[in-house]
Amino acid sequence: MQVNERTIATLSGVGASTPAYVYDLDAIEAEAASLEEAFGAHAHGVFYAVKANSAGSIVRALASRGVGADVVTGAELLLALACGVSPEMVVYSGVAKTDEELDLAVSSGDRGIRSIQVESIEEIGRIDARARAAGRVARIAIRVNPGLDFEELATHAHVATGHDEAKFGIASADLDAALAAIGSAKSVALVGISSHVGSQFFRTAPYVAAARVVCGLARSVRARFPLEFVDTGGGFGVDYAGGECAKPADFVRETLTVLRDAGVSDLALHVEPGRALVARHGVLLARVIQRKVSPSSGQRWLMVDAGMNDLIRPALYQAKHRVMAVAESGDGGTARVATAGSTKRSAWRVVGPCCESADDFGDHELPDDGFDHVALLDAGAYGYTMASRYNGRALASEVFLRGGAVASVSPRAPLGAWAEERARV
Ligand code: LLP
Repeated sequence: MQVNERTIATLSGVGASTPAYVYDLDAIEAEAASLEEAFGAHAHGVFYAVKANSAGSIVRALASRGVGADVVTGAELLLALACGVSPEMVVYSGVAKTDEELDLAVSSGDRGIRSIQVESIEEIGRIDARARAAGRVARIAIRVNPGLDFEELATHAHVATGHDEAKFGIASADLDAALAAIGSAKSVALVGISSHVGSQFFRTAPYVAAARVVCGLARSVRARFPLEFVDTGGGFGVDYAGGECAKPADFVRETLTVLRDAGVSDLALHVEPGRALVARHGVLLARVIQRKVSPSSGQRWLMVDAGMNDLIRPALYQAKHRVMAVAESGDGGTARVATAGSTKRSAWRVVGPCCESADDFGDHELPDDGFDHVALLDAGAYGYTMASRYNGRALASEVFLRGGAVASVSPRAPLGAWAEERARV
């Protein structure tokens, strides 16, 4: 999203204090629309991974475009339903779903959610029992693990899930045992084969390789079970350095070819993108608290009021989000973006206030002065949803823009709120 002269003024105008996440709802909807278009006439479902950003304004905006929800907890399931997503448009993955969560999935709507993606053979028996108790038949998909290795997956180890040591999914070698368990369960119906092999694919090749395995398995399984869909998961990458990478639509078009080649093109194609729908359409705005320059070494730190508790991706995955300087001109409260050449630029280490060395957003080339805010770019995914209140820090404000104007705000709790709450415990 574009951070422009008005961004800071907009924030102060609605009383949203920093740190503040600012999201562009129009851009998020446009992202969904171009993904939907890539399917052409092929039966499909786009299920947004709400873990990327679970703000109601965003889930509702996507739902208004026909996008469903991929959830991994009962809480995310309830959120999707509360935002108007129909149970028919919800898929539910997760390696350790509780009975309470399974009951919710089975009992939502007229026939439960679109599909519970089972991640172990043991889970099949548990779902069968819960569905029987509810007098229903649960629609399930097997989340298969296509068994690709780390190199084939070409992504960060923390976000690679489609390899053999992953806790996720059922290994392809165990598929027959899973089918036998399903065959003898009376209250489950196998409707799909699903997968999610990792995140941050910049190229389509590894994703397509996994899709080929999944479609091959679907083809053999449907001889025994009347499948409705294959689900090739999320993982469409976003280049945090601002470069180009394969677009969500590219992944979809190539996967549709895989379905045709595998002879399963009559099955619907489901995908579960999280990051690609929202990351680039949100920024984290922070105020500069102070500068620190070592007279002996010349090292420069820029201390800002956003920390690793607000955006943990740099600390957890060594991610580097671009940082942009934003200035208020002081004349009538209008703001301007501090541009190259307005002042001397140097390498500044941008850090937050948390008591951890990992509270560090990396080195960035920034003007030496003349600005009082920074924007951490591409922060729309896995930012707020992974935030904590470490060091007693309140969660960031959230501001949602539509047509460039503020559509809604969720303000940050005041300084005293956390102390009061924790003192009572
Ligand atoms: N489906 C399932 C079953 C998933 O586990 C995930 C993400 C997705 C879909 C969506 O993946 P995406 O399209 O967003 O790559 N916190 C990490 C990412 C963790 C992803 C976990 N699973 C990060 O900030 O990079």
